[in-house]
Amino acid sequence: MTAVRLVEITAGNRDAVRALRVRPGQERFVASVAKSLEDAATTPEGEPWYRAVYAGEEPVGFVMLSWAVPPGRPGVLGPYFLWRLLVDGRHQGRGVGRAVLDEVVALVRADGGTELLASHQPGDDGPGAFYLKYGFRPTGEVDHGETVLRLALRPHPASRSAT
Ligand SMILES: CC(C)(COP(=O)(O)OP(=O)(O)OC[C@H]1O[C@@H](n2cnc3c(N)ncnc32)[C@H](O)[C@@H]1OP(=O)(O)O)[C@@H](O)C(=O)NCCC(=O)NCCS
Repeated sequence: MTAVRLVEITAGNRDAVRALRVRPGQERFVASVAKSLEDAATTPEGEPWYRAVYAGEEPVGFVMLSWAVPPGRPGVLGPYFLWRLLVDGRHQGRGVGRAVLDEVVALVRADGGTELLASHQPGDDGPGAFYLKYGFRPTGEVDHGETVLRLALRPHPASRSAT
């Protein structure tokens, strides 16, 4: 099992995180870190929340969610939507992606979320199988040409009734 930490992006690590690259041919499945940071800055209605993914002392990936989006925002999936997820090509296939989902799911549950949405470009060589293996299931919706998936979350223990 790969242990990961979700770390804030600051002036100290921004360049290293922006330098992360997916494998050749995967660029069509996910935007770069640089583009994602731009999108976060220009799309406040999407309630962007993002972190660098570290394995040990090294940045190995990037994750961005729409976080606790209030209801009724046209064009924004939520309340919790996995907007971007990428693992650097050199670090794929070692459990990093799954470990990031574990961390994100724990955070969303702790925030009271009951489901996590995601979406992906259709295509056999894309990340769809990764999400299905984790437990996401298609909702039947298509958003901006992408297949929408849903992961139901068990309630966080702290939010259960004491009775
Ligand atoms: C998709 C991605 C995040 C997965 O991260 P990863 O660290 O390589 O995945 P993991 O090693 O944690 O894989 C977990 C499981 O999913 C499987 N898996 C991962 N990617 C897969 C793929 N493309 N197709 C089929 N299975 C896949 C792994 O084999 C593993 O299975 P196992 O439990 O039987 O061992 C990563 O490959 C990536 O960044 N891809 C390019 C960008 C992208 O597509 N992002 C998603 C945008 S929606």
